[in-house]
Amino acid sequence: APAASAQAVADMDWPALQTAVAQCQACGLCETRRQTVFGAGARQARWMVVGEAPGEQEDRQGQPFVGPAGKLLDAMLAAMGLSRHADDAIDALEKRAGQTGQEGQAGGPPAEGVYIANVLKCRPPANRNPQPDEVARCEPYLRRQVALVQPQVILAMGRFAVQSLLQTSEPIGRLRGRAHQYAGVPVIVTYHPSYLLRNPPDKARAWQDLCLALQVMREQTQP
Ligand code: URA
Repeated sequence: APAASAQAVADMDWPALQTAVAQCQACGLCETRRQTVFGAGARQARWMVVGEAPGEQEDRQGQPFVGPAGKLLDAMLAAMGLSRHADDAIDALEKRAGQTGQEGQAGGPPAEGVYIANVLKCRPPANRNPQPDEVARCEPYLRRQVALVQPQVILAMGRFAVQSLLQTSEPIGRLRGRAHQYAGVPVIVTYHPSYLLRNPPDKARAWQDLCLALQVMREQTQP
């Protein structure tokens, strides 16, 4: 299939977008990927996480953030009361309540959902950095995902997510600590989980960023 134009992508509904990504041959990464990685989580979420690109595990499993960085991301989200599996958890609770004829007991407040996507939908060989032409070809998909999910806060993780959403080459250290905007949605900038695995002392800064994101979400919902 030839690459869909950016305008065509901008008009797609969710199923059409999924199909377009699955069949995409817009850049050379289609030659080396095992499969595309579209995204995961709750499509109606108030929260959206944007990462960089699939790694080896993601390329094998077709899901975003399922390798070592994904483990850390899930822990960061859990610390915020968020989960990519929130819908599953609520379904499970409802099922159990149906079986017992009682209200389900979660043992704590249920986590809130989050939608997770990457700038690139295909793994770069050996996890090299995304190249500008690859980002340019793939960006319309992410932009459409944001438009369809309509999140209230976006967490941009790492240089490539930040550069793509904010159209800036400023380093993360200069952008942290305040909310930016993409298409009218507040964007909180933080380090990529893979970076944090290599630089654990910066986890304290990342936690500050997550707290800022929670604060911005509170302000969004109760102005
Ligand atoms: N790193 C990312 O940025 N995205 C993934 O999906 C996995 C690792």
